[in-house]
Amino acid sequence: MSTFEGPATSEGPASFEGKVALVTGGSRGIGRGISQALADSGAEVVVAARGLEGAERTAAEIVESGGKARGISLDIGDDASVEAGVKALVSDYGTIPLLVNNAGITRDNLLLRMKKDEWDHVIGTNLTGIYRMCRAVVPSMVKKRFGRIVNVTSVVGSMGNPGQSNYAASKSGIEGFSRSLARELASRNITVNCVAPGFIETDMTADLGEDTRKKLLDQVPIKRLGTPQDVAAAVSFLLGDGASYITGCTLEVNGGMYM
Ligand SMILES: NC(=O)c1ccc[n+]([C@@H]2O[C@H](COP(=O)([O-])OP(=O)(O)OC[C@H]3O[C@@H](n4cnc5c(N)ncnc54)[C@H](OP(=O)(O)O)[C@@H]3O)[C@@H](O)[C@H]2O)c1
Repeated sequence: MSTFEGPATSEGPASFEGKVALVTGGSRGIGRGISQALADSGAEVVVAARGLEGAERTAAEIVESGGKARGISLDIGDDASVEAGVKALVSDYGTIPLLVNNAGITRDNLLLRMKKDEWDHVIGTNLTGIYRMCRAVVPSMVKKRFGRIVNVTSVVGSMGNPGQSNYAASKSGIEGFSRSLARELASRNITVNCVAPGFIETDMTADLGEDTRKKLLDQVPIKRLGTPQDVAAAVSFLLGDGASYITGCTLEVNGGMYM
């Protein structure tokens, strides 16, 4: 006889029917995969990126495939852009129940050559950008007593990587930020989790030479690069009802590269 005493569940794949999802950096790469997956599960997706054209292109692809989406221009590195963008969305929808903070950048350099500007740009976008987004979106979640936030970090935040001290600091900073926010917001039915991708095939990784690519693959026990869909599946899980008792966690999606 089972000693398990928890509630029986029959959760199928997540359904986001009737929910709005805001995905930053949704126009390309991982964010595009996340946007498509959430729309496939019924969410109305707001694809946000600095470039309006790219955001609208991805939204149009989603609509073409039968989903609901719109594209907006929003720069997570800019206070005024985040405030105005989120204010307009909250006025349209009342709240943004699902928030995926995916946008992120790199400006790689060894510390001895790293300019202050390269440091500031990465921290100001990746880390302060997530503070800006949460600061803007969370009040409406609190009011509605519901919210699901997933922040996209990186395996590099845990492992470190030469030439990426700025990026690694931003990504592990996001994880500490997320755990604190998870504690602050748990009583309001708002969960805050992270997804930490490993080596994923996108524009961000397209420039790596064959040599670097092979060396990286040698570190991946599952012996293939990840796809945006691999990351999107983890994000969907953490946003869905099946994860309502999970907060403050980081789900690693790295093919076993770091464990
Ligand atoms: N690719 C990987 O192997 C990998 C591994 C681990 C973690 N990650 C993380 O996963 C996330 C997505 O990476 P990716 O590889 O998919 O990146 P990507 O292909 O370079 O796409 C970046 C997306 O973010 C948007 N973006 C950039 N700066 C922005 C800003 N200031 N405000 C709003 N949107 C902005 C871009 O559109 P615009 O240029 O139009 O703004 C684009 O939609 C990042 O947080 C990255 O750190 C990636």
